[in-house]
Amino acid sequence: MTAAVTAAHEYMRPRVRAGGIGVDATAGRGHDTVFLARLLGPEGIVHACDVQPAALAATQQRWLTLPSPKAALHLHACGHESMKQSLADHGVTQLQAVIFNLGYLPGTDHAITTSASTTLTALQDLLTLLTPGGILTVVAYPGHPGGREELDAILSWARQLPPAIGLARHLQWLNLGPDRAEMIAIEADPTDWSA
Ligand SMILES: C[S@@+](CC[C@H](N)C(=O)[O-])C[C@H]1O[C@@H](n2cnc3c(N)ncnc32)[C@H](O)[C@@H]1O
Repeated sequence: MTAAVTAAHEYMRPRVRAGGIGVDATAGRGHDTVFLARLLGPEGIVHACDVQPAALAATQQRWLTLPSPKAALHLHACGHESMKQSLADHGVTQLQAVIFNLGYLPGTDHAITTSASTTLTALQDLLTLLTPGGILTVVAYPGHPGGREELDAILSWARQLPPAIGLARHLQWLNLGPDRAEMIAIEADPTDWSA
């Protein structure tokens, strides 16, 4: 696990209440899906999507290793840019936690990767569904082609977010080299920070 993924999990763990609905916006091999399931507990529901059928199969397999009782899982064979509609089709109107772990799946075709434009669409869509106190995290990898552009686009988007919609934080490692993954966390914080 990278330092940024660990940081995203550590950020979420004390802040997410059990029993809500979570989204893993890049299922991959299901590590984040299972993390969300543990956090949300048996009353929770996790929706996970990926554009690669093999990723969804791997996520399903990892899910089976979780002991019961456990959260319910819904897998979506689509890009996260379509998740708002898929969630609406399932009657989902509020989310407690959303995880993005961007880039490509290690060990597979590196050309199948997330991209700035579709990631921004998904971030905007899913942020609007966050319940007050809900958390959205993004791990972005500037070290692969298109990765720096994607990270920069996310940072620009996050900087202009009205605080009343979400408080945005950015975590980077100053002495691990220029291309290390970075973490962005957005909290739908009901506190009025305007003072
Ligand atoms: C770094 S991996 C995710 C790792 C995963 N969260 C885990 O815990 O194993 C990135 C994943 O994003 C997927 N992906 C690429 N474009 C996507 C899109 N538009 N929507 C959803 N997933 C996408 C890739 O297929 C890949 O599986």
